[in-house]
Amino acid sequence: DSFSISFDESTPDTANLLKAAEQLKNSDIPVAFPTETVYGLGADATRSAAVNGIYKAKQRPSDNPLIVHFASLEQLRKLLGPDSDPMHSHLKGHATDGPLTIILSNPTNSLLAPEVTAGLGTFGARIPRNILALALIKQADVPVAAPSANASTKPSPTAAEHVAYDLDGRIETIIDGGPCDVGVESTVVDGLSNPPLVLRPGGVSMEQLRSCPGWEATQVGYKNAAEQGSQPKAPGMKYRHYSPKAPVILYEIGKAAPTLSELRDHVGPQKKLGVVTTKRWRVNPSSTEINEQTSTSPDKTKHSERANHEEGFAGMLQSLHGTPDPGAAMQIHQVQGTHSTWQLAEIPLGSNIASIARGIFAALRELDREQVDAIFVEGIDDLEGDTAAAVMNRLRKAAEIKVVG
Ligand code: TXA
Ligand code: MG
Repeated sequence: DSFSISFDESTPDTANLLKAAEQLKNSDIPVAFPTETVYGLGADATRSAAVNGIYKAKQRPSDNPLIVHFASLEQLRKLLGPDSDPMHSHLKGHATDGPLTIILSNPTNSLLAPEVTAGLGTFGARIPRNILALALIKQADVPVAAPSANASTKPSPTAAEHVAYDLDGRIETIIDGGPCDVGVESTVVDGLSNPPLVLRPGGVSMEQLRSCPGWEATQVGYKNAAEQGSQPKAPGMKYRHYSPKAPVILYEIGKAAPTLSELRDHVGPQKKLGVVTTKRWRVNPSSTEINEQTSTSPDKTKHSERANHEEGFAGMLQSLHGTPDPGAAMQIHQVQGTHSTWQLAEIPLGSNIASIARGIFAALRELDREQVDAIFVEGIDDLEGDTAAAVMNRLRKAAEIKVVG
Protein backbone atom coordinates (compact mmCIF):
# COMPACT_ATOMS: atom_id res chain seq x y z
CA ASP A 1 0.00 0.00 0.00
CA SER A 2 2.94 2.33 -0.38
CA PHE A 3 2.67 4.72 -3.26
CA SER A 4 4.57 7.54 -4.81
CA ILE A 5 3.41 10.81 -6.21
CA SER A 6 5.69 12.63 -8.60
CA PHE A 7 5.53 16.39 -8.86
CA ASP A 8 6.37 18.51 -11.87
CA GLU A 9 8.64 20.88 -9.96
CA SER A 10 8.37 23.63 -12.55
CA THR A 11 4.66 24.42 -12.10
CA PRO A 12 3.35 27.10 -9.72
CA ASP A 13 0.78 24.58 -8.43
CA THR A 14 3.55 22.30 -7.25
CA ALA A 15 5.42 25.18 -5.65
CA ASN A 16 2.24 26.15 -3.80
CA LEU A 17 1.53 22.61 -2.68
CA LEU A 18 5.07 22.21 -1.36
CA LYS A 19 4.75 25.52 0.46
CA ALA A 20 1.47 24.38 2.03
CA ALA A 21 3.09 21.13 3.17
CA GLU A 22 5.93 23.14 4.69
CA GLN A 23 3.43 25.32 6.57
CA LEU A 24 1.53 22.30 7.76
CA LYS A 25 4.73 20.84 9.13
CA ASN A 26 6.15 23.95 10.77
CA SER A 27 3.47 26.54 11.41
CA ASP A 28 0.81 26.65 14.13
CA ILE A 29 -1.72 28.07 11.68
CA PRO A 30 -3.70 25.27 10.02
CA VAL A 31 -3.89 24.71 6.25
CA ALA A 32 -7.22 24.06 4.47
CA PHE A 33 -7.28 21.31 1.85
CA PRO A 34 -9.85 19.45 -0.23
CA THR A 35 -10.93 15.88 0.40
CA GLU A 36 -13.54 13.95 -1.61
CA THR A 37 -16.08 14.55 1.19
CA VAL A 38 -15.64 18.15 2.40
CA TYR A 39 -12.71 20.54 2.87
CA GLY A 40 -10.55 19.85 5.92
CA LEU A 41 -8.57 22.19 8.16
CA GLY A 42 -5.28 20.40 8.71
CA ALA A 43 -2.47 20.51 11.24
CA ASP A 44 0.42 18.28 12.28
CA ALA A 45 -1.34 15.83 14.63
CA THR A 46 1.83 15.25 16.63
CA ARG A 47 2.23 18.88 17.79
CA SER A 48 -0.10 20.34 20.44
CA ALA A 49 0.47 23.95 19.35
CA ALA A 50 -0.48 23.11 15.78
CA VAL A 51 -3.60 21.17 16.84
CA ASN A 52 -4.65 24.01 19.14
CA GLY A 53 -4.43 26.25 16.08
CA ILE A 54 -7.33 24.27 14.55
CA TYR A 55 -9.62 24.71 17.56
CA LYS A 56 -8.75 28.40 17.62
CA ALA A 57 -9.37 29.04 13.91
CA LYS A 58 -12.68 27.15 13.93
CA GLN A 59 -13.70 28.25 17.42
CA ARG A 60 -14.49 24.62 18.06
CA PRO A 61 -15.12 23.27 21.58
CA SER A 62 -12.03 21.32 22.60
CA ASP A 63 -13.94 18.26 23.86
CA ASN A 64 -14.80 17.32 20.28
CA PRO A 65 -12.01 15.05 18.93
CA LEU A 66 -10.46 15.38 15.47
CA ILE A 67 -10.05 12.84 12.68
CA VAL A 68 -6.44 11.99 11.80
CA HIS A 69 -5.64 11.75 8.09
CA PHE A 70 -2.96 9.55 6.56
CA ALA A 71 -1.61 9.22 3.03
CA SER A 72 -1.38 5.43 3.22
CA LEU A 73 -2.01 2.42 5.41
CA GLU A 74 1.77 2.19 5.76
CA GLN A 75 1.89 5.65 7.35
CA LEU A 76 -0.98 4.70 9.67
CA ARG A 77 0.81 1.51 10.74
CA LYS A 78 3.94 3.52 11.50
CA LEU A 79 1.93 5.58 13.98
CA LEU A 80 0.30 2.54 15.56
CA GLY A 81 3.62 0.76 16.03
CA PRO A 82 3.86 -2.96 16.69
CA ASP A 83 0.71 -2.77 18.84
CA SER A 84 -1.16 -6.05 19.05
CA ASP A 85 -4.68 -4.62 19.09
CA PRO A 86 -6.72 -7.02 16.94
CA MET A 87 -8.26 -4.07 15.14
CA HIS A 88 -4.92 -3.18 13.63
CA SER A 89 -4.35 -6.50 11.95
CA HIS A 90 -8.03 -6.52 11.15
CA LEU A 91 -7.46 -3.41 9.05
CA LYS A 92 -5.49 -5.45 6.55
CA GLY A 93 -8.62 -6.99 5.10
CA HIS A 94 -10.37 -3.70 4.46
CA ALA A 95 -10.65 -1.16 1.76
CA THR A 96 -9.67 1.63 4.12
CA ASP A 97 -9.40 4.61 1.83
CA GLY A 98 -12.15 6.99 0.80
CA PRO A 99 -15.02 8.60 2.69
CA LEU A 100 -14.51 6.37 5.73
CA THR A 101 -13.19 7.07 9.22
CA ILE A 102 -12.35 4.13 11.46
CA ILE A 103 -12.11 4.50 15.24
CA LEU A 104 -8.95 2.81 16.50
CA SER A 105 -7.41 2.60 19.94
CA ASN A 106 -4.69 5.14 20.53
CA PRO A 107 -1.48 3.29 21.40
CA THR A 108 0.19 3.98 24.72
CA ASN A 109 2.98 6.51 24.21
CA SER A 110 1.09 7.62 21.13
CA LEU A 111 2.73 10.24 18.95
CA LEU A 112 -0.64 12.00 18.67
CA ALA A 113 -0.96 15.26 20.59
CA PRO A 114 -3.52 14.77 23.40
CA GLU A 115 -5.64 17.62 21.96
CA VAL A 116 -6.43 15.43 18.93
CA THR A 117 -8.34 12.83 20.90
CA ALA A 118 -9.92 15.20 23.44
CA GLY A 119 -9.00 12.81 26.20
CA LEU A 120 -10.41 9.62 24.62
CA GLY A 121 -8.35 6.44 24.43
CA THR A 122 -9.32 6.17 20.78
CA PHE A 123 -8.83 8.17 17.61
CA GLY A 124 -10.47 8.36 14.21
CA ALA A 125 -8.25 7.41 11.24
CA ARG A 126 -9.00 8.30 7.63
CA ILE A 127 -7.11 7.79 4.39
CA PRO A 128 -8.77 10.18 1.94
CA ARG A 129 -8.87 9.46 -1.77
CA ASN A 130 -8.52 13.04 -3.07
CA ILE A 131 -5.17 13.35 -4.83
CA LEU A 132 -4.39 16.84 -3.46
CA ALA A 133 -5.07 15.66 0.09
CA LEU A 134 -2.82 12.64 -0.42
CA ALA A 135 -0.04 14.73 -1.97
CA LEU A 136 -0.18 17.23 0.90
CA ILE A 137 -0.07 14.58 3.64
CA LYS A 138 2.60 12.57 1.87
CA GLN A 139 4.77 15.62 1.38
CA ALA A 140 4.32 16.91 4.97
CA ASP A 141 5.11 13.38 6.13
CA VAL A 142 3.12 13.73 9.37
CA PRO A 143 -0.34 12.46 10.40
CA VAL A 144 -2.73 15.32 9.71
CA ALA A 145 -5.47 16.16 12.21
CA ALA A 146 -8.36 17.80 10.39
CA PRO A 147 -11.97 18.62 11.12
CA SER A 148 -14.19 20.07 8.42
CA ALA A 149 -12.88 23.54 7.51
CA ASN A 150 -16.00 25.53 8.42
CA ALA A 151 -16.41 27.88 11.35
CA SER A 152 -17.90 25.84 14.21
CA THR A 153 -21.74 25.41 13.88
CA LYS A 154 -21.76 26.38 10.15
CA PRO A 155 -22.48 24.07 7.22
CA SER A 156 -19.45 22.03 6.13
CA PRO A 157 -17.47 23.58 3.26
CA THR A 158 -17.65 21.83 -0.10
CA ALA A 159 -15.71 24.49 -2.04
CA ALA A 160 -12.63 26.62 -1.34
CA GLU A 161 -14.82 29.76 -1.34
CA HIS A 162 -16.81 28.39 1.61
CA VAL A 163 -13.61 28.02 3.62
CA ALA A 164 -12.47 31.52 2.68
CA TYR A 165 -15.84 32.97 3.70
CA ASP A 166 -15.74 31.35 7.16
CA LEU A 167 -12.05 31.55 8.01
CA ASP A 168 -10.83 34.67 6.25
CA GLY A 169 -8.20 36.35 8.44
CA ARG A 170 -7.81 33.22 10.59
CA ILE A 171 -5.80 31.04 8.22
CA GLU A 172 -3.23 31.75 5.51
CA THR A 173 -3.57 28.90 3.02
CA ILE A 174 -6.39 27.11 1.23
CA ILE A 175 -5.58 24.48 -1.39
CA ASP A 176 -8.33 24.89 -3.98
CA GLY A 177 -9.35 21.57 -5.48
CA GLY A 178 -12.73 22.74 -6.77
CA PRO A 179 -16.06 21.42 -5.48
CA CYS A 180 -16.03 18.18 -3.47
CA ASP A 181 -17.27 14.98 -5.13
CA VAL A 182 -19.28 13.53 -2.25
CA GLY A 183 -20.45 16.62 -0.35
CA VAL A 184 -21.23 14.97 3.01
CA GLU A 185 -18.59 13.89 5.52
CA SER A 186 -17.04 10.47 5.93
CA THR A 187 -18.85 7.56 7.53
CA VAL A 188 -17.47 7.15 11.06
CA VAL A 189 -17.36 3.50 12.12
CA ASP A 190 -16.34 2.22 15.53
CA GLY A 191 -14.72 -1.11 14.76
CA LEU A 192 -13.62 -1.53 18.38
CA SER A 193 -17.16 -2.23 19.50
CA ASN A 194 -18.83 -5.55 18.86
CA PRO A 195 -20.80 -5.47 16.61
CA PRO A 196 -19.08 -2.57 14.81
CA LEU A 197 -21.16 0.61 15.02
CA VAL A 198 -21.67 3.39 12.53
CA LEU A 199 -21.44 6.55 14.65
CA ARG A 200 -22.08 8.93 11.77
CA PRO A 201 -23.61 8.05 8.39
CA GLY A 202 -21.60 9.32 5.43
CA GLY A 203 -19.98 8.63 2.10
CA VAL A 204 -19.53 4.87 2.61
CA SER A 205 -22.66 2.72 2.78
CA MET A 206 -23.70 0.13 5.33
CA GLU A 207 -23.63 -2.44 2.56
CA GLN A 208 -20.01 -1.60 1.71
CA LEU A 209 -19.03 -1.85 5.39
CA ARG A 210 -20.81 -5.18 5.81
CA SER A 211 -18.94 -6.59 2.84
CA CYS A 212 -15.64 -6.21 4.77
CA PRO A 213 -14.46 -9.42 6.45
CA GLY A 214 -15.35 -9.29 10.15
CA TRP A 215 -17.72 -6.37 9.69
CA GLU A 216 -20.71 -8.36 8.40
CA ALA A 217 -22.74 -7.49 11.53
CA THR A 218 -22.14 -3.72 11.44
CA GLN A 219 -25.04 -1.82 13.04
CA VAL A 220 -26.36 1.73 13.04
CA GLY A 221 -25.01 3.39 16.18
CA TYR A 222 -26.29 6.93 15.71
CA LYS A 223 -29.69 8.28 16.67
CA ASN A 224 -31.96 9.93 14.21
CA ALA A 225 -34.05 12.91 15.23
CA ALA A 226 -37.02 10.79 16.25
CA GLU A 227 -35.11 9.12 19.06
CA GLN A 228 -33.22 11.80 20.95
CA GLY A 229 -32.29 11.79 24.60
CA SER A 230 -29.31 9.58 25.36
CA GLN A 231 -25.74 10.83 25.20
CA PRO A 232 -24.37 10.46 21.67
CA LYS A 233 -21.27 8.31 21.29
CA ALA A 234 -19.47 10.46 18.72
CA PRO A 235 -18.83 13.59 20.79
CA GLY A 236 -19.32 15.91 17.81
CA MET A 237 -22.88 14.78 17.28
CA LYS A 238 -24.24 16.70 20.28
CA TYR A 239 -23.45 20.24 19.11
CA ARG A 240 -25.46 22.66 17.01
CA HIS A 241 -24.26 21.84 13.58
CA TYR A 242 -24.43 22.62 9.88
CA SER A 243 -26.54 25.70 10.55
CA PRO A 244 -26.78 28.72 8.29
CA LYS A 245 -27.80 32.09 9.82
CA ALA A 246 -31.41 31.78 8.73
CA PRO A 247 -33.47 29.17 10.58
CA VAL A 248 -33.92 25.95 8.61
CA ILE A 249 -37.42 24.48 8.47
CA LEU A 250 -37.19 20.88 7.35
CA TYR A 251 -40.19 19.13 5.83
CA GLU A 252 -39.81 15.42 6.39
CA ILE A 253 -40.82 13.08 3.61
CA GLY A 254 -44.57 12.49 3.51
CA LYS A 255 -45.35 16.09 4.41
CA ALA A 256 -47.00 18.14 1.68
CA ALA A 257 -45.39 21.37 0.49
CA PRO A 258 -46.18 24.28 2.84
CA THR A 259 -49.25 26.40 2.33
CA LEU A 260 -49.19 30.18 2.63
CA SER A 261 -50.52 30.03 6.18
CA GLU A 262 -47.86 27.50 7.14
CA LEU A 263 -45.19 29.78 5.74
CA ARG A 264 -46.68 32.67 7.72
CA ASP A 265 -46.79 30.61 10.91
CA HIS A 266 -43.10 29.94 10.58
CA VAL A 267 -41.77 33.26 9.40
CA GLY A 268 -44.32 35.88 10.37
CA PRO A 269 -44.30 39.03 8.27
CA GLN A 270 -40.87 38.45 6.75
CA LYS A 271 -40.58 38.72 3.04
CA LYS A 272 -37.66 36.80 1.67
CA LEU A 273 -37.71 33.05 1.91
CA GLY A 274 -35.26 30.44 0.73
CA VAL A 275 -36.53 27.11 -0.56
CA VAL A 276 -34.36 24.07 -1.25
CA THR A 277 -36.33 21.71 -3.47
CA THR A 278 -35.34 18.13 -4.17
CA LYS A 279 -37.45 15.30 -5.54
CA ARG A 280 -41.03 16.52 -5.57
CA TRP A 281 -41.36 20.21 -4.91
CA ARG A 282 -40.73 22.84 -7.51
CA VAL A 283 -41.66 26.47 -7.35
CA ASN A 284 -44.08 27.04 -10.20
CA PRO A 285 -43.30 30.50 -11.61
CA SER A 286 -46.59 30.73 -13.50
CA SER A 287 -48.72 30.71 -10.34
CA THR A 288 -46.96 33.47 -8.47
CA GLU A 289 -49.96 35.79 -8.64
CA ILE A 290 -51.05 35.79 -5.03
CA ASN A 291 -53.17 38.41 -3.39
CA GLU A 292 -51.86 38.32 0.07
CA GLN A 293 -54.80 38.15 2.44
CA THR A 294 -54.49 40.60 5.30
CA SER A 295 -58.11 41.21 6.35
CA THR A 296 -59.42 39.17 9.25
CA SER A 297 -63.04 39.99 8.42
CA PRO A 298 -64.98 36.76 8.06
CA ASP A 299 -67.13 37.71 5.08
CA LYS A 300 -67.88 35.07 2.53
CA THR A 301 -65.91 36.46 -0.39
CA LYS A 302 -62.77 36.90 1.65
CA HIS A 303 -63.10 33.36 2.87
CA SER A 304 -63.16 31.92 -0.56
CA GLU A 305 -60.37 34.23 -1.64
CA ARG A 306 -58.27 33.09 1.23
CA ALA A 307 -58.88 29.48 0.36
CA ASN A 308 -57.80 30.20 -3.17
CA HIS A 309 -54.68 31.98 -2.11
CA GLU A 310 -53.66 29.21 0.14
CA GLU A 311 -54.20 26.70 -2.58
CA GLY A 312 -52.37 29.05 -4.90
CA PHE A 313 -49.34 29.14 -2.72
CA ALA A 314 -49.36 25.45 -2.09
CA GLY A 315 -49.64 25.11 -5.84
CA MET A 316 -46.45 27.12 -6.23
CA LEU A 317 -44.54 24.48 -4.40
CA GLN A 318 -45.79 21.69 -6.52
CA SER A 319 -45.37 18.03 -6.04
CA LEU A 320 -43.92 17.02 -9.35
CA HIS A 321 -42.63 13.58 -10.05
CA GLY A 322 -39.96 12.92 -12.59
CA THR A 323 -38.76 16.48 -12.97
CA PRO A 324 -35.41 16.48 -14.76
CA ASP A 325 -32.43 17.50 -12.63
CA PRO A 326 -32.13 21.21 -13.20
CA GLY A 327 -28.75 21.81 -11.55
CA ALA A 328 -28.29 23.94 -8.50
CA ALA A 329 -28.56 27.48 -9.87
CA MET A 330 -30.63 29.76 -7.68
CA GLN A 331 -33.90 31.07 -9.10
CA ILE A 332 -35.57 34.13 -7.61
CA HIS A 333 -39.38 34.18 -7.84
CA GLN A 334 -41.39 37.32 -7.08
CA VAL A 335 -44.70 36.77 -5.34
CA GLN A 336 -46.91 39.83 -5.76
CA GLY A 337 -49.36 40.39 -2.92
CA THR A 338 -51.84 43.22 -2.43
CA HIS A 339 -49.75 44.84 0.28
CA SER A 340 -46.28 43.58 -0.36
CA THR A 341 -44.02 41.54 -2.54
CA TRP A 342 -42.61 38.26 -1.36
CA GLN A 343 -39.45 36.83 -2.73
CA LEU A 344 -38.76 33.15 -2.94
CA ALA A 345 -35.17 32.17 -3.62
CA GLU A 346 -35.29 28.58 -4.86
CA ILE A 347 -32.34 26.23 -5.18
CA PRO A 348 -33.45 23.10 -7.02
CA LEU A 349 -31.07 20.25 -6.19
CA GLY A 350 -32.82 17.75 -8.45
CA SER A 351 -33.84 14.21 -7.64
CA ASN A 352 -30.52 12.40 -7.85
CA ILE A 353 -29.36 11.57 -4.30
CA ALA A 354 -25.66 11.96 -5.08
CA SER A 355 -26.31 15.44 -6.53
CA ILE A 356 -28.42 16.39 -3.52
CA ALA A 357 -25.56 15.34 -1.21
CA ARG A 358 -23.05 17.25 -3.33
CA GLY A 359 -25.13 20.43 -3.30
CA ILE A 360 -26.90 20.61 0.06
CA PHE A 361 -24.30 22.48 2.15
CA ALA A 362 -23.58 24.93 -0.68
CA ALA A 363 -27.31 25.59 -1.04
CA LEU A 364 -27.67 26.51 2.65
CA ARG A 365 -24.69 28.82 2.35
CA GLU A 366 -25.93 30.44 -0.84
CA LEU A 367 -29.32 31.21 0.68
CA ASP A 368 -27.59 32.80 3.66
CA ARG A 369 -25.67 35.07 1.29
CA GLU A 370 -29.01 35.95 -0.31
CA GLN A 371 -30.09 37.08 3.19
CA VAL A 372 -33.28 35.10 3.31
CA ASP A 373 -35.27 35.15 6.56
CA ALA A 374 -35.86 31.41 6.68
CA ILE A 375 -34.95 28.36 4.62
CA PHE A 376 -37.58 25.73 3.81
CA VAL A 377 -36.04 22.40 2.83
CA GLU A 378 -37.82 19.53 1.14
CA GLY A 379 -36.52 16.44 2.91
CA ILE A 380 -35.85 13.12 1.22
CA ASP A 381 -36.57 9.57 2.33
CA ASP A 382 -33.70 8.46 4.56
CA LEU A 383 -34.57 4.83 3.85
CA GLU A 384 -33.65 5.34 0.23
CA GLY A 385 -30.03 4.53 0.90
CA ASP A 386 -27.07 5.54 3.02
CA THR A 387 -26.31 8.75 1.18
CA ALA A 388 -29.91 9.82 1.71
CA ALA A 389 -29.58 8.88 5.39
CA ALA A 390 -26.40 10.98 5.65
CA VAL A 391 -28.13 13.99 4.05
CA MET A 392 -31.15 13.73 6.37
CA ASN A 393 -28.87 13.26 9.39
CA ARG A 394 -27.19 16.60 8.58
CA LEU A 395 -30.44 18.38 7.77
CA ARG A 396 -32.11 17.31 11.02
CA LYS A 397 -29.17 18.78 12.92
CA ALA A 398 -29.29 21.96 10.88
CA ALA A 399 -33.06 22.36 11.31
CA GLU A 400 -34.59 24.59 13.95
CA ILE A 401 -38.04 23.28 13.08
CA LYS A 402 -38.84 19.81 11.79
CA VAL A 403 -42.23 19.38 10.17
CA VAL A 404 -43.29 15.77 10.25
CA GLY A 405 -46.18 14.06 8.48
O1 TXA B 1 -15.25 13.75 5.86
C1 TXA B 1 -14.82 14.01 6.99
O2 TXA B 1 -14.86 13.18 7.91
C2 TXA B 1 -14.20 15.40 7.22
C3 TXA B 1 -12.92 15.47 6.39
C4 TXA B 1 -12.19 16.75 6.58
O3 TXA B 1 -12.10 14.38 6.71
N1 TXA B 1 -13.92 15.61 8.59
C5 TXA B 1 -14.87 15.82 9.52
O4 TXA B 1 -14.38 16.10 10.78
O5 TXA B 1 -16.06 15.79 9.28
P1 TXA B 1 -15.27 16.68 11.94
O6 TXA B 1 -14.31 17.06 13.01
O7 TXA B 1 -16.14 17.77 11.43
O8 TXA B 1 -16.13 15.48 12.44
C6 TXA B 1 -15.48 14.38 13.06
C7 TXA B 1 -16.49 13.46 13.72
C8 TXA B 1 -17.12 14.13 14.93
O9 TXA B 1 -18.48 13.76 15.00
C9 TXA B 1 -16.29 13.56 16.08
O10 TXA B 1 -16.97 13.61 17.29
C10 TXA B 1 -16.07 12.14 15.59
O11 TXA B 1 -15.84 12.27 14.20
N2 TXA B 1 -14.87 11.53 16.22
C11 TXA B 1 -13.59 11.90 16.07
N3 TXA B 1 -12.77 11.13 16.84
C12 TXA B 1 -13.57 10.27 17.50
C13 TXA B 1 -13.36 9.22 18.47
N4 TXA B 1 -12.15 8.92 18.91
N5 TXA B 1 -14.45 8.53 18.90
C14 TXA B 1 -15.69 8.83 18.46
N6 TXA B 1 -15.94 9.79 17.57
C15 TXA B 1 -14.92 10.52 17.10
MG1 MG C 1 -17.57 19.20 11.08
